[in-house]
Amino acid sequence: MALLPDCHVQFKRDSLPVRPTKRLYGAARWLLETYLERLASMDVDAVFLLGDTLDPADDAGLNWLTSLIDQSTVPVYIIIGNHETYGWTSVERFHRAFGLPDHGHHVAMVNEVPFLMLATPDQDSLIPGSAGYRWLQETLEEFDSSTDLFCCAHFSLLLHPCVEGSKNDGMQVLWSAGEIMSLLRERPNVRAWIAGHKNVPSKVVRDGMLHLLSPQLIQAPCAFRVIDIHDDGILSRVHDIEEQDLARLSRLAYGADYSERHGTEEDRDFWWSWK
Ligand SMILES: [Fe+2]
Ligand SMILES: [Fe+2]
Repeated sequence: MALLPDCHVQFKRDSLPVRPTKRLYGAARWLLETYLERLASMDVDAVFLLGDTLDPADDAGLNWLTSLIDQSTVPVYIIIGNHETYGWTSVERFHRAFGLPDHGHHVAMVNEVPFLMLATPDQDSLIPGSAGYRWLQETLEEFDSSTDLFCCAHFSLLLHPCVEGSKNDGMQVLWSAGEIMSLLRERPNVRAWIAGHKNVPSKVVRDGMLHLLSPQLIQAPCAFRVIDIHDDGILSRVHDIEEQDLARLSRLAYGADYSERHGTEEDRDFWWSWK
């Protein structure tokens, strides 16, 4: 399946950028429309929108995105990020627009592989005692220990190297990350935590679980990740967008800092086996 985090469509900004700018907001809508079509022709089994798809989720954006997903020939699964609700809609209204339960947590079955799609609009989402944490506990228990499970959320459970030290803005990790990691350690069949929000290609393996960050279409390196789930591991490949004239505008805006956003070759394309 293809991972498209942080598309950041701002419905009113809709003219293609012509000068260097880090985030290509004016191209965001066109890029998402175009890449849903191209991913369908690449025969991916599903597309995951990992939050901050709409920035914010206003009426025009919600109408556009719901019909785009309805018309897509490849199944699209969506979770909320922190930008959808900025100054506009409620979490519940966003989820209802996509036919999800008000809390937004759901299981996406792709080729019989379960993905626990977790709604994390804030860093305090999924704190122990919350309905979301209980949903996670109960849903983990529904699957036997021989079923490989995957979790998707907007926020991470750990600091990836690209946001350590001075780059840590305190906005990367769920506040309940420690408790969730403890919960997941009891379930070694949970293979990966697939996050958005920070869009430098990155992978960290901790306690036998893969933690993944993936690039976005609208900001350098202007790319997307495709993962193939096998019985014993995950194959990852990062694809740069074809529109390198657009990608170059973001890359130029970053200048010398671009190299920090590209991600290492091992973090982009890899085979990771859990057996
Ligand atoms: Fe974002
Ligand atoms: Fe975000």
